Amino acid sequence: MATTITITGAGGQIGYALLFRIAAGDMLGQDEKVRLRLLEIPQGLKAAEGAALELQDCAFDLLESVEVTDDAATGFDSCNLALLVGARPRGPGMERADLLAANAGIFGPQGAAIAGSAASDVRVTVVGNPANTNALIAAASADGIPPERFTALTRLDENRARAQLAAALDAPVSAIRRVPIWGNHSATQFPDVTHATVDGRPVLEALAERVDDVEAWLEQTFIPRVAKRGAEIIEVRGSSSVASAANATIEHTRDWVHGTDDWTSAGVVSNGEYGVPAGLVSSFPVRSVDGRWQIVEGLELSAWARGRIDASVAELVAERDAVRALGVL
Ligand code: NAD
Ligand code: LMR
Repeated sequence: MATTITITGAGGQIGYALLFRIAAGDMLGQDEKVRLRLLEIPQGLKAAEGAALELQDCAFDLLESVEVTDDAATGFDSCNLALLVGARPRGPGMERADLLAANAGIFGPQGAAIAGSAASDVRVTVVGNPANTNALIAAASADGIPPERFTALTRLDENRARAQLAAALDAPVSAIRRVPIWGNHSATQFPDVTHATVDGRPVLEALAERVDDVEAWLEQTFIPRVAKRGAEIIEVRGSSSVASAANATIEHTRDWVHGTDDWTSAGVVSNGEYGVPAGLVSSFPVRSVDGRWQIVEGLELSAWARGRIDASVAELVAERDAVRALGVL
């Protein structure tokens, strides 16, 4: 058997960083063959076709086939995993509402096409921004597919948070665990260190030995650094994160398929957990068990954490309402 994986926006930057790693087995392992479907818009077809030629030239043992198309029904036909990367970027003078409208025009039809032609076990990871609301739109447009199969990528934010803590504590990144992201993949997100550990010891305790005022450090240094890292990368590189985003997409999807031994973060459809309105796609601490994301429940939230989560969730509600006003949901 082989897994069929559809990558939208495959001719773009993240697509180029994803394809070769997937074909090399980084996502599903060395025992799983893959069939790649590269879905683009007409302007992106040449770039995707070029990537397909290079995939051929790699002679990957695990790669069974590569198809390039600009037709969504063909692109999602029988796919088991859909990585929705292609999105409309914010252009000069474009308001948030314009961006939401443009992306609703992409993710609505793609959700419908997934419902129409994907395999019955399809799992969808939305990367294209605004990722949470795009996932919500796709899920709402995919009649007959359980909403839990639609997720938004917040693993990159978690990886950024773990890396910043590792640097601050002068510890290897592998020693840092349980740093969930709550809310939206945006500057309002809440990277939460309350339950984080470094080599099994509470991060808050370790931080107290290194910084004078832990709360001030979290508010003024750590959280803004993580939440605005996307903007920092854009400023320094001149374009948005690519390899780190592709890496996080691979880790998210690998963990969804193969399971986790601890918490991680993913944007998943809320069933009202932690007071997040049902139906919103919000990031939560999650585990992957038997091929499903499970929200880690029962965590105590301080008033400060609660306020931070509520602020990010309010942004998700506003995005959902803006999309509803367009008549999309
Ligand atoms: P890019 O502009 O290099 O590539 C986007 C590609 O999508 C283009 O080739 C374009 O032709 C294609 N595309 C546009 N509309 C499409 C459609 N309807 N169907 C299929 N393909 C379509 O951009 P990139 O650097 O690859 O980034 C892609 C998206 O990922 C952006 O929205 C970016 O903001 C987002 N992103 C998300 C995260 C995250 O953590 N969630 C991180 C980094 C980037
Ligand atoms: C990122 O987090 O790097 C991307 O979502 C790009 C952005 O606009 O922040």
